[in-house]
Amino acid sequence: MNKIENSFLNKNQFGDDFLWGVSTAAFQIEGAHDADGKGSSIWDVFTAQKGKVKNGHHALTACDFYNSYQNDIDLIRELNIPNFRFSISWTRIMPTGIHPVNQAGIDYYNKIIDSLLASGIEPWITLYHWDLPHVLETKGGWTNRESVTWFSEYVAVCAQHFGDRVKNWMVINEPSVFTGAGYFLGIHAPGKKGITNYLKAMHHVTLATAAGAKILRDKVQDANIGTTFSCTHIEPATQNQKDIDAAKRVDTLLNRTFIEPILGLGYPQADLPVLKKLNNYILADDLNNLAFDFDFIGLQCYTREVVKSSILIPYIGAELISAEKRNVISTDMGWEVYPPALYEVLKKFNEYKNIKKIIITENGAAFPDILTNGKVYDIKRTHYIQDHLEQILKAKKDGLNVEGYFVWSLTDNFEWAEGYNARFGLIHVDFDTQQRTIKHSGLWFKDFLS
Ligand code: NOJ
Repeated sequence: MNKIENSFLNKNQFGDDFLWGVSTAAFQIEGAHDADGKGSSIWDVFTAQKGKVKNGHHALTACDFYNSYQNDIDLIRELNIPNFRFSISWTRIMPTGIHPVNQAGIDYYNKIIDSLLASGIEPWITLYHWDLPHVLETKGGWTNRESVTWFSEYVAVCAQHFGDRVKNWMVINEPSVFTGAGYFLGIHAPGKKGITNYLKAMHHVTLATAAGAKILRDKVQDANIGTTFSCTHIEPATQNQKDIDAAKRVDTLLNRTFIEPILGLGYPQADLPVLKKLNNYILADDLNNLAFDFDFIGLQCYTREVVKSSILIPYIGAELISAEKRNVISTDMGWEVYPPALYEVLKKFNEYKNIKKIIITENGAAFPDILTNGKVYDIKRTHYIQDHLEQILKAKKDGLNVEGYFVWSLTDNFEWAEGYNARFGLIHVDFDTQQRTIKHSGLWFKDFLS
């Protein structure tokens, strides 16, 4: 049977309450980098530096969502997608990161929220999707413990202005990725490096996650509060004890370090000794303040990693063996296409007994799109989504907790250090003309959701 046209998948198999959505982030789509009083974020500054982003791409205009949001919201409706996840650009509403508030920024997000609700689409806000105000970075950014206070003030402003209509909130997006890439490896904004920056940022971001969630609980009636974590299925390259141990350390770093303190389990220092250095930054009462009883946890899974032991890699003593080296099918990001990873991470995170609800808040793939005669036939992306949905179905049949699936992403957009070449959208964007074309994957999803 032709999988695309006659997929075995049927929305009803997932149950009436299963949540279907699509995810985006402000910096990746909005553009309008200095419109109406917006301040600069660390990504505005990072992308302006030579050599930081592939091909010198920047996000000054990106998908121009700032101006074309109505058109894109119409497209979400056309695709029958009932839930839309987007993030607030902190510097649009607080240009210097702290008070005063920029009313034009508030007005902008009010227009989006109202337009979504008028279209019957439920808004899901991410408060922090990596675009820290640059002014705050000049004061140390997330390495400065004051970041918890700055972030709390920002969350309070969002709750106050949007909480009457928006009930679904995600506090922080993928802390492991933006602290690792931005504060340890220096390959994402703000381009900082080293273990000290990384561990400080880790602890402050984790404190800010719980602090932000508490503010939402306090200020937004009937809020559905979550936060999102990147996660990946880890396998040792061989059954040698060294590789098994290395895989355990990588699993601890990539899957456990950020979520466990939030769940009240503390940092997993026993399984990753470098985390003991965190004790330099943990103050009295911090461990209690790190925990929050989230209504849901957002998991974002794209692939698996295969790990071997390596004495050359500091702190972790392990190396990821790339998909290319393993000669397996991969996406334009170089990530192996391995749908069972989604089932495996669901199984893994189901072992945490105090997670109330799991939602897959991102999953999707970057593949090259070929535009012919006004059509985009992205068969690989359609298969990728279908194959991952099958894994979710398998998880549900096995009784695992998983209650929603959001595709990354609505449109092709600015893929951070990869620029525009990695296309993740259900909708193709011609970045010269801003023309949108629904891809085959988008049409399939529309059909599936109808
Ligand atoms: C993770 C991030 O949340 C998102 O910003 C990014 O574009 C996708 N995954 C794909 O890399």
